[in-house]
Amino acid sequence: PRTAPILVASNRGPVSYTLGEDGSLTARRGGGGLVSGLSAIGPDANAVWVCAALGEGDRAAARRAGDSHLNPGDTGGQQVRMLDIAPDVFAAAYNGIANSVLWFIHHLLYQTPVEPVFDAEFADQWAAYEAYNAAFADALAEEAVDEAAVLVQDYHLALVPAMLRERRPDLRIGHFSHTPWAPPDYYRLLPDEVAAGVLRGILGGDRAAFLTERWAGAFADCCAAVLGAEIVRDGDGDGDGDGDGNGDGAATAVRFEGRETRLGVHGLGADADFLRQRSRQADVDERLTSLRAQIGPDRKSIVRVDRTELSKNIVRGLLAYRQLLETHPEWRERVVHVAFAYPSRQDLAVYRDYTERVRRIAEEINAEYGTEGWTPVALHVKDDFARSLAAYRLADVALVNPIRDGMNLVAKEVPVVSERGCALVLSREAGAYAELGDDALVVNPYDVEATARALDAALRMSDGERADRTKRLAAAATALPPQAWFLAQLRAL
Ligand code: G6P
Repeated sequence: PRTAPILVASNRGPVSYTLGEDGSLTARRGGGGLVSGLSAIGPDANAVWVCAALGEGDRAAARRAGDSHLNPGDTGGQQVRMLDIAPDVFAAAYNGIANSVLWFIHHLLYQTPVEPVFDAEFADQWAAYEAYNAAFADALAEEAVDEAAVLVQDYHLALVPAMLRERRPDLRIGHFSHTPWAPPDYYRLLPDEVAAGVLRGILGGDRAAFLTERWAGAFADCCAAVLGAEIVRDGDGDGDGDGDGNGDGAATAVRFEGRETRLGVHGLGADADFLRQRSRQADVDERLTSLRAQIGPDRKSIVRVDRTELSKNIVRGLLAYRQLLETHPEWRERVVHVAFAYPSRQDLAVYRDYTERVRRIAEEINAEYGTEGWTPVALHVKDDFARSLAAYRLADVALVNPIRDGMNLVAKEVPVVSERGCALVLSREAGAYAELGDDALVVNPYDVEATARALDAALRMSDGERADRTKRLAAAATALPPQAWFLAQLRAL
């Protein structure tokens, strides 16, 4: 039966389930920027959220959903349909194509003298990625009422818009990328038919939206370079552009094979109300007390919070901190680097290796500089949202130095939660730079020396300046809170 006027599709859903020994299911909120943003949909929207079953608990929940397809129990107020896709197909699509190929392309992560390798295994993974996308298209086609709006999320589901249009030409279909988009020269590392297939997939929708103008522009450039598509630009007299009257030349639509896909930019912001309220709860207070004890009195803190993710550049962050201690001995015993690096994508060997490397370098720094009463790096690897919030509250400096990042919500959350003001050291390659660049200390993420200098400047910033900057950062960071972000996409569609 078709019931849903609004549909959301993403690989990771708002909850994941663990299966108890007695067969009971426990729901837990999913992580990452995408889920944080979309969770604001709320129960009133009458939306159905279609996502993949990620593990055994999810698969059990999907099977128990029965004829309605919708998961029972606590789904955080959402109507959720989890797709029980064959484990080998899911693994090849998620680990193989989505996280080892498309994620690597958009974040410029390949070591190109030896990577990527497009061999027979890749061909099988690509076939799995098509099957996995088709499973989503089938489910969405089944759930959507006539002319429903469908919001397809991220690089896992790039083929869904075109596949869904084939099945249901009546629907309004949008795609949203939560990642950066690669520039054409790098994008064309992909085999030609894959490069074209991904673009054609997204262009099957009515809209393709991004977190910043930079990523939207790169997508348009790829459409022109790979497909020979026509790009409509703001102010070129060819259509009304983005309607802001600026005529700034930004790409506003892609015309290809007789259809037009409009481009959109919606910079997901932090959820101030939620963060302020959540960060004042008792469990956060408790963690604040123990973090303070760990840092010690009269010491400053440099905080980072990330998934242990190659693109987050955690290793260079640690090297920059080591450099700071080396060239500015006056900071020894006076600062602690509190680094939260939460496990992510551990099925992939390069992520396991990277996690090990982070741990090793932290240990090296502690062995090299640590003293009886001072441990220079406090590395925490167990995921704990309440502890992250506690660290946001007390941080003197936040280090956000990704190689490349679609947005980076940590950079936006810290200034909102910070108690006494926090200096932000921010990579110019994070999407958040577009909105926060003016009041952050901006770094080239590859430049360890420059990052060390920025850390020093951040630690030396006066209380007044830090407070002023934090106020402006918080205002910029909350310009488009999640609910408004979601509604803006929906309205534009
Ligand atoms: C990024 C992606 C999301 C993803 C999240 C967590 O933010 O854009 O689509 O959900 O990382 O990664 P994971 O592989 O654990 O879902």
